[in-house]
Amino acid sequence: MKEIEKARKSLKSKFEKLDDKRAILKEPELKALFDGIREVETEKRSEYGRAVNELKLEVSSWLEESSEKEDTAESIDVTAPWDVNVSTQNRPEFLPATQGGVHPLVNEINYICDVYERMGFVVKESREIDDDYHMFESLNFPEGHPARDDYDTFMTDEGLIAPAHTSTMQNRILQKYKANLDKGLPIAAVVPDRVFRNEDLDATHEHTFYQIEGVYVGEDITVGNLIATLSAFMNEYFGQELKTKLQPFYFPFTEPSFEFAIERPDALKKDDSEEQKWLELLGCGMIHPNVLSAAGIDPKKYSGFAWGNGIERMVMMKHGIEDVRHFESANLKFLRQF
Ligand code: DAH
Repeated sequence: MKEIEKARKSLKSKFEKLDDKRAILKEPELKALFDGIREVETEKRSEYGRAVNELKLEVSSWLEESSEKEDTAESIDVTAPWDVNVSTQNRPEFLPATQGGVHPLVNEINYICDVYERMGFVVKESREIDDDYHMFESLNFPEGHPARDDYDTFMTDEGLIAPAHTSTMQNRILQKYKANLDKGLPIAAVVPDRVFRNEDLDATHEHTFYQIEGVYVGEDITVGNLIATLSAFMNEYFGQELKTKLQPFYFPFTEPSFEFAIERPDALKKDDSEEQKWLELLGCGMIHPNVLSAAGIDPKKYSGFAWGNGIERMVMMKHGIEDVRHFESANLKFLRQF
């Protein structure tokens, strides 16, 4: 009997440690107890046998209990927000999962990219640190060019630059996709990302903001293609046919360069004054031959257009936001409106 009691304890502790609980039934220790029945003196054999059987039943009941526990454990949806799997009593008063949301700028960028993607453009991100070559040199701003001063760039001691416009990606886009041209396909890409300028901050100026750049290159591409592409985008984006206007401008990386304006969409019109009529939305132009050459594309054979615009301004117009600084303020009162 002492032996059986000893075996019970040792089986129990083995059972506790087992990963596959069913293995307990095959424990040699248990089998040895059964084998031992034959060796017990006749008078004590039935008592011993009963005790061994009882132990076997007990072991089976441990097993049953443990599998019951496994079966009745609440199943959880591992893909659900965390609070869904927390019982109602244990839920905190505020549920983080219901407080989150997509930032209004990210929402807008997703929508803008969606429209361009449907028009056949690929979307590429920029980077948050770059060099003089991509910021200026490859874009036809030679060293000492006065237009460099128009960009109040942040620069590290090593001369690295926090990109002040998404045009820093033009050379990379042209290089990456120039093989398209040999196959008779165009280069068509948009680049949304953050840019940085050492600005004095006010309601319309931030040091960190978003731009989206567009690049299109192919054979016989003209200003007509530029106007058609940007108009198609604006009509889709604002959901109505809009008149457009080009005004001459200057950028070193485009020739000719323009400012692109659209007739103010109805939803954004305050009154019928001449002042309210046009919205200047972006800078654009035909890509300068030097920019194409810098990327190894023959400007005699191929031509293209590029454009770039700030995203905050469009979101501010759309939602009637009066101060650009709200976006990066992390002010939940502002963010929860969207
Ligand atoms: N990079 C210019 C800026 O930030 C915007 C721009 C103008 C981009 C003309 C272009 C372009 O691609 O063709 O002021």
